[in-house]
Amino acid sequence: MDKIVIKGGRRLKGKVKIVGAKNAVLPVMTACLLCRGVSVIENVPRLRDVTTMGKVLERLGARVKFEGDTLQVDTSGINSHEAPYELVRTMRASIYVLGPLLAAQGKARVSLPGGCAWGPRPVDLHIRAMRELGADLEIEHGYILGKAGKLKGATIRFSMSSVGATANTMMAACRASGTTVIGNAAKEPEIIALAEFLNRMGARIKGAGTETIEIEGVRKLSAADYRIIPDRIETGTYMVAGAITAGDIQIEDCVPEHVDALTRKLIQCGIKIETGKHSIRVKGKRRIDSVDMVTAPYPGFATDMQAQFMALMAVARGNSIISESIFKDRFSHVPELRRMGAKIKIEANTAHVGYVRRLSGAPVMATDLRASAALVLAGLIADGETHISRVYHIDRGYEAIERKLGNLGARVERVPE
Ligand code: UD1
Repeated sequence: MDKIVIKGGRRLKGKVKIVGAKNAVLPVMTACLLCRGVSVIENVPRLRDVTTMGKVLERLGARVKFEGDTLQVDTSGINSHEAPYELVRTMRASIYVLGPLLAAQGKARVSLPGGCAWGPRPVDLHIRAMRELGADLEIEHGYILGKAGKLKGATIRFSMSSVGATANTMMAACRASGTTVIGNAAKEPEIIALAEFLNRMGARIKGAGTETIEIEGVRKLSAADYRIIPDRIETGTYMVAGAITAGDIQIEDCVPEHVDALTRKLIQCGIKIETGKHSIRVKGKRRIDSVDMVTAPYPGFATDMQAQFMALMAVARGNSIISESIFKDRFSHVPELRRMGAKIKIEANTAHVGYVRRLSGAPVMATDLRASAALVLAGLIADGETHISRVYHIDRGYEAIERKLGNLGARVERVPE
């Protein structure tokens, strides 16, 4: 297993290019299961989660081929309907096969994902929605066993905004008979991206990106080509890297609108941000002001940026209150940031972050994807060396992070542990 070693203290300068969004490519890959044929997906990031999803599709009989940043998914040989535990447990997003399998094959055997590093992550909304579309679902031996004749359009109102359940329902509903209306749908850019891809396949989806999505079922879908949208969480992570190091960096190939909530917070902290059509320039400064923040569904502040933002607040002047409204226990980065000298207290779903003049390098452990990113950011300004172990978490969602940070002037190395 590798670890990342960072020698802190460099102001980052230069340009960094953003790759395609992990959370957009994963459902697009499973949407390919809705038809037989070869779909070509461009701007696909080289990430462990994408490889894992490739394995899930291969288990189902698909052929998945990466060339450069293009992924070919050939579903003509699909011969299974099972997503096994050993793959699902390494990546919860494997649940995205449920809707497409039920819609295309009328059956699915998908392992229940279980919890994750920051507590329970139920899939009840996915299950309920599939039932409302007419599927018969049971839980047995840790698996969701689903059977369905022809799915039937329904009106489904989610009790909370869920990206995954909205995506799964959209995929299942586009081959159902009649019309499906999803109420309280997730509005994330990745939902719009998935709807665009499905519409290219021949689906009839309207309203993606709003609270109400309407899907008119069609008999047949066909393979399609699609270019993945830029990763807004990678974008945000490099924005914080610029801010925390008092650097001056230009982030390219991104969508500034997708990180609006973060941009507004950084401006409040005193960071200068200039946005172009597809680029963001971040000019940090030594003295950062603290602000409070609450995570919320899009267009609110992304929970996937909470840990990274907390690293910034740890060295911002004043106290900051950070509340997590999506995943209430998502604080596994806190004990590690404390080991680096941060002053953070947790009360229920809220972190009280005090000011420290400096963080100090320490051996720390990556506990999940975004928590690891927070440790990398903290390491960039810590005194001395920070050794981050279990970097496979980082590799799930950040392509070549050590090379990209290195190009910006950081002293970052990946070494075998
Ligand atoms: C997706 C993202 C993840 C991000 C999260 C919230 C992917 C692959 N992952 O995860 O990076 O942090 O959105 O923006 O895109 N919930 C239920 N029951 C369900 C489903 C969800 O109670 O069946 C709850 C969750 O526990 C959470 C909230 O709904 O409190 C939102 O979760 P959801 O949007 O579904 O997250 P994911 O799709 O799993």
